[in-house]
Amino acid sequence: MSRKRVAVLISGRGSNMAALIEAAKDKKYPAEIALVLSNRPDAGGLHVARAAGIATEIVDHAAFGKDRAAFERALQAVLTSHHIDLVCLAGFMRLLTPGFVGLWPERMLNIHPALLPAFKGLDTHKRALEAAVKVHGATVHFVVPEMDSGPIIAQGAVAVRAGDTEEKLSARVLDVEHRIYPLALKLVAQGRVRVVDGRCLIDGVPVPDASSLVPLA
Ligand code: GRF
Repeated sequence: MSRKRVAVLISGRGSNMAALIEAAKDKKYPAEIALVLSNRPDAGGLHVARAAGIATEIVDHAAFGKDRAAFERALQAVLTSHHIDLVCLAGFMRLLTPGFVGLWPERMLNIHPALLPAFKGLDTHKRALEAAVKVHGATVHFVVPEMDSGPIIAQGAVAVRAGDTEEKLSARVLDVEHRIYPLALKLVAQGRVRVVDGRCLIDGVPVPDASSLVPLA
């Protein structure tokens, strides 16, 4: 089976992008990172991608002012020109309209630094500490129009430790992100993930609920 062509969309340092690039170096991995696309010309991840010999493109949202539709048309044109099969959002800090999301049904993934449905949105580690949760983590999910809400493909948990700060906790969660994103993309690229009634089945088995996860770190 030919490898799926993946575009990774970034806005910043791109450590999840780097984890996907690393995984895809293995010729047996079912996806290749064909493109890294940034909405910010100064995203640090662009250097990492170029150093790895991966095609990069910039679609600067600032050039489109408030015209989201025009920005997304430009994104879509770039994705089409690179013959992209799957899109991975990895710290891509733009909200996408339902129209654009609808072009990529079950073909666009996102990573979120919390155990969804808990802590949607920003500042997840700070809010997890404030809520004094015992277990925190990260989620890879399909993108749907509603933010941080799509069917969950994979989650990884970390135990919240006494004395944790936002920095310490986010570092442990990030480590888990770098493990689950390549895994989730692999499952999707292999065609092993199906969405039924808003939930992912992997090889026909529902993804376990976050409450049943054993912390990885
Ligand atoms: C990650 O924590 C990711 O979960 C969130 O944004 C951060 C991006 O980090 N969506 P990086 O650019 O992948 O290093």
